[in-house]
Amino acid sequence: MSETRSNLLRSTPFRLALTFAFLFLLAFILSGAIVYQLMSASLARQLDQSIKETYSLIAATYAESDEEDLVSTVRDHAQFSQDKDEIFSLTDKDGNRLAGDFTSSLPDGFSMFAADLPGVPPDTEYRAYSGMVGDNNLTVAFSLSETEDLERIVLMSFGWGTLFITVLAIGGGAVLASRVQRRLDGIASTMVDVSHGRLDARIPLIGNGDDIDAVSAQVNAALERLSALVDGMREVSANIAHDLKTPLNRLQMILESAADKTVSGEDVSTELTDARAESQQINSTFDALLRIAQIEAGARKARFVDLDVGPVVETIGDVYADVAEDDGKSLSTTIIPDTKWYIHGDRDLLMQMLANLVENALRHCPPGTAIELSVTRGGSHVLVHVRDNGPGIPAEEREKVFRRLYRLDASRTTPGSGLGLSLVKAVADLHGAAITLEDRNPGLGVTISLPAVRTTVT
Ligand SMILES: Nc1ncnc2c1ncn2[C@@H]1O[C@H](COP(=O)(O)OP(=O)(O)OP(=O)(O)O)[C@@H](O)[C@H]1O
Ligand SMILES: [Mg+2]
Repeated sequence: MSETRSNLLRSTPFRLALTFAFLFLLAFILSGAIVYQLMSASLARQLDQSIKETYSLIAATYAESDEEDLVSTVRDHAQFSQDKDEIFSLTDKDGNRLAGDFTSSLPDGFSMFAADLPGVPPDTEYRAYSGMVGDNNLTVAFSLSETEDLERIVLMSFGWGTLFITVLAIGGGAVLASRVQRRLDGIASTMVDVSHGRLDARIPLIGNGDDIDAVSAQVNAALERLSALVDGMREVSANIAHDLKTPLNRLQMILESAADKTVSGEDVSTELTDARAESQQINSTFDALLRIAQIEAGARKARFVDLDVGPVVETIGDVYADVAEDDGKSLSTTIIPDTKWYIHGDRDLLMQMLANLVENALRHCPPGTAIELSVTRGGSHVLVHVRDNGPGIPAEEREKVFRRLYRLDASRTTPGSGLGLSLVKAVADLHGAAITLEDRNPGLGVTISLPAVRTTVT
């Protein structure tokens, strides 16, 4: 319980709610004080005005006729105010009371005094106005109790308002904080799950699109990528283990037969040649895996320069044209003359990437296949195309062929380890390039879309 309370006090929304409540309260009290002051002043002014009006009204009766009228008017007024809210005093020049509720000895003009009169609470405060009417002194005094009542009501309302605001702010802050806390706890528990290896755990979303939801969605997306990455790594490890088992088994069988032959004194030179070829294959697979890992690590990016893609494509075209011909295939290279296609990259890696694509077309397509190499411009990108009219790659396999050691069933009998396209992908990623595989009916069209630095026509 005490932990919950201390958690609540430490929670950001609760602190925010309290801070705002405090500021609001401060503003409320401040404005209350101003309103109170203004209202008091206005009430006092009104009271003075009423007193003065009553005084003038009474004094006027003397101006019209004689003292008798004045005395009777004061008497009437005094009688009329039964509850002594308004009291009067009329004295002659010797200070003797002629009429009214009390005998005034107040100075001329406005003044305050406390009176003890029968029928009113002791020390009732009055506001009075005194002045001479002829030879007589007339004092009109109004009780302050009405004004004080009003002021008390205003003060009470502000007091209750302050209390309500405080209670509402603390209560509302606590409700809000506990709701947000519950969601934060959800995030924390998801992260605990993830740290325990349950990568499929996701933060529950409310769906109202608020900031917590937005952050949670981002975290979920990151988890999605992380789990895909880990899945991929797991698959890669499993594939590597599986794919290396076959050549290692073969190597073991060769060595066992060599051992048998040695016992019987037979010649083992064929076995040794086979064993060497087998271990070379295993070695080159490891080399390729390490190379891909190295490229993915990104260190080569430091060596990037602005280079023209045209000559790279032409060099590959030249190198492989004869190989293709010997293989009963054709390779044509189309480059728009006098155009330089500058990109930011690594020449050796780009060569390796294109070589892998051309070698794939040579290896996985039947004799008679026409292979085309070309460079075009697509918006802000330089597009390098490697196309053939061989068997192509079925749509459902196009994502998978980029995985390490993945080969189509049809290619299992051809030499290779299924790492060529993984390296292509690693190089493309390093260059910020997209790869698309398309069906050419028949054949495969590979397009590498490299961000262009500039293109110059000479
Ligand atoms: N031009 C192509 N036409 C048809 N299938 C292709 C083509 N290019 C690649 N493939 C298919 O994609 C698979 C993966 O290609 P990848 O280059 O990664 O491996 P590989 O060529 O089999 O081996 P290596 O590691 O020697 O390149 C190939 O095994 C093949 O089945
Ligand atoms: Mg290949």
